[in-house]
Amino acid sequence: MERRLQQLFFALSILALVLIVAAAWQANTPSWKTYQHNFLQLEAQGEPNAVAKAAVLATPPEIHQVMLTGLQRVDRCTTCHLGVEDPTMKDAPEPFRYHANLGSHIPSKFGCTICHGGQGLATDKEAAHGKVAFWPNPLLSNDYIRASCGRCHKEGDVPGVPELTEGRRLFESQGCRGCHKLNGVGGSIGPDLTAEGANHRAPEWLEQHFLTPNAVSAGSAMPNFHFTREQARALTYYMLSLTSEEMGSYYSSVRVIPGPEYGRKLFEEKNCITCHNVGGVGAKTGPDLMGVTTRHSLEWLDEQLVNPELVYPGSSMPAYDLEPNARKALVAYLNSATPADIQLLLAHKNHPLTPEDVGIEAGKADFARFGCAGCHGTELQGGVPNPNAQGGEVPSLLHLSDDYTKDEVIAVIRNGRAPPLDNTAGPTPPLYMPSWKKVLSDEDINRLADFLWSKQEKKKESW
Ligand code: HEC
Ligand code: HEC
Ligand code: HEC
Ligand code: HEC
Ligand code: HEC
Ligand code: HEC
Repeated sequence: MERRLQQLFFALSILALVLIVAAAWQANTPSWKTYQHNFLQLEAQGEPNAVAKAAVLATPPEIHQVMLTGLQRVDRCTTCHLGVEDPTMKDAPEPFRYHANLGSHIPSKFGCTICHGGQGLATDKEAAHGKVAFWPNPLLSNDYIRASCGRCHKEGDVPGVPELTEGRRLFESQGCRGCHKLNGVGGSIGPDLTAEGANHRAPEWLEQHFLTPNAVSAGSAMPNFHFTREQARALTYYMLSLTSEEMGSYYSSVRVIPGPEYGRKLFEEKNCITCHNVGGVGAKTGPDLMGVTTRHSLEWLDEQLVNPELVYPGSSMPAYDLEPNARKALVAYLNSATPADIQLLLAHKNHPLTPEDVGIEAGKADFARFGCAGCHGTELQGGVPNPNAQGGEVPSLLHLSDDYTKDEVIAVIRNGRAPPLDNTAGPTPPLYMPSWKKVLSDEDINRLADFLWSKQEKKKESW
């Protein structure tokens, strides 16, 4: 009983202290009305006409609010940030400064918090900036704010944000999916990352975790990939962009920003060059695409990419399943493609693929896509620590043919396997070989085995 009273007394004195500090602090923090008053003074300064000046100064204070149903939020930031749309305020002090580079992301349609974070409804500064207890989503610092662009622009390149493209690429090539699910695809040894950006991890935490998982998450089974600081930053951007928010169709219509860089990537990926040439460089099955954007209208070209058969009956050109912005990106690339650039594209290509190569290539793609690389390494070298498994690490896949037949390997991939323990009294090793039969078709598994077989190294002769 006495102990209870002591605790109560202690709690009450803390509360009193908090209230005193809060009151003192509030007295020093101007309210939104003060900011509006100061803003009007600033505006009135440049006004030569006395009547107009008086009218500006007489504007009654009011809360400025943007309802963003498509983004499921209400933002009041412009109650204080009053000059964001006024270019004459480009040198004004904050919170009155003009916002450069908003482009089509105008405040009345986008508000502020979708990019910046913070608490949209709040009207005092600390709360609005989200630097208060129980508000999990504080303003992103300038180092990370451009990660938000990836919440809406999900594929292709976002102008000025190469980190997002690189982060996405690393995620797909390093085998993260071996342990993590993203949008339903992947393993479950690590947490699901579908909404990692809404998970309230500070950007700094994520970045440090990529540099040394163990430094922020003791005993983590996540391998140290020895990323550079730039790579860790790129992955952090990508993670922050994964919020799986519901957005209105207007906002999600721009998954891909149609630009020539992305178009070039598609042109390469879709192997358009195996039939076409540009100014004579490339193949001759299809027409020269040099100047094609001047010969046809944009609508015609778009239609041609959707359904070549409709435009040219009997066409041998495949119909590609490309979304509208991807088609625009391709056309943007065709508009600027030069023979010299095609030469560069062709320099990347090896010899034409045989059907066998095609199977191996597909196996290689599956190896990356399903995250095998996350545990076995991008070069199949193994070596990810796996405490108390025999050998202490995930095995290399470069010497399978010494110990197994191809069918045995197929069986391991299908059924999975827990590694034998080093010390039977010790803990279960964190990493095991998952069973893939529910995820991969037999055809996929066979192609994976073909790929692994193409990589086997001869056993070094020992003396
Ligand atoms: C009560 C007024 C007020 C409101 C409401 C407000 N801000 Fe601010 N904001 C300021 C002031 C004042 C500054 C200038 C820097 C300072 O004093 O901290 C500022 C600075 C900023 C900065 C510059 C970086 C920084 O932290 O200094 C950003 C970004 C920002 N605000 C975003 C927002 C967003 C987003 C919202 C809405 C969720 C918002 N603000 C709502 C007053 C406000
Ligand atoms: C489309 C995303 C986006 C939207 C929407 C957006 N901003 Fe920004 N904002 C940015 C980016 C990007 C920067 C630049 C950061 C930098 O300088 O690298 C920035 C910079 C700022 C800065 C200057 C920060 C500093 O320290 O220099 C302020 C203040 C700011 N924004 C406030 C707002 C307010 C208020 C709104 C809503 C009216 C808003 N922003 C809407 C993306 C956005
Ligand atoms: C809430 C979703 C959303 C976010 C966040 C967002 N955008 Fe956009 N973006 C759009 C939409 C929607 C359009 C198309 C606007 C239109 O045409 O009306 C667009 C258009 C663009 C365009 C095409 C050119 C233009 O300005 O119209 C570029 C470039 C662009 N965004 C870059 C960015 C960058 C950079 C960021 C981060 C600072 C960003 N976007 C953040 C939704 C978003
Ligand atoms: C979560 C980590 C993890 C992922 C993801 C993973 N593996 Fe494994 N794999 C292991 C471990 C651990 C072993 C060792 C099992 C043992 O010792 O019995 C193993 C064993 C194997 C073996 C047998 C090697 C040997 O020498 O015994 C093959 C083949 C294999 N994995 C292929 C794959 C393929 C293909 C994929 C992707 C479809 C994949 N693995 C994904 C962890 C993983
Ligand atoms: C299998 C061969 C083949 C591939 C692959 C192919 N095309 Fe074609 N394409 C053709 C042929 C053949 C034509 C000529 C008209 C026809 O018969 O359909 C054509 C016509 C075109 C035209 C109209 C040219 C004009 O001057 O009328 C465009 C544009 C075009 N292709 C773009 C592309 C793009 C972009 C890709 C890659 C995404 C691509 N093609 C992939 C065979 C191909
Ligand atoms: C061998 C399995 C494995 C691989 C491969 C792996 N992770 Fe992890 N990851 C984990 C485990 C286990 C955790 C939970 C422990 C921790 O926080 O480190 C984790 C945690 C994380 C977290 C923190 C989640 C949170 O908020 O708690 C992120 C983000 C993450 N991983 C991203 C990645 C990315 C990106 C890659 C690819 C570059 C990757 N992981 C590869 C096993 C793995």
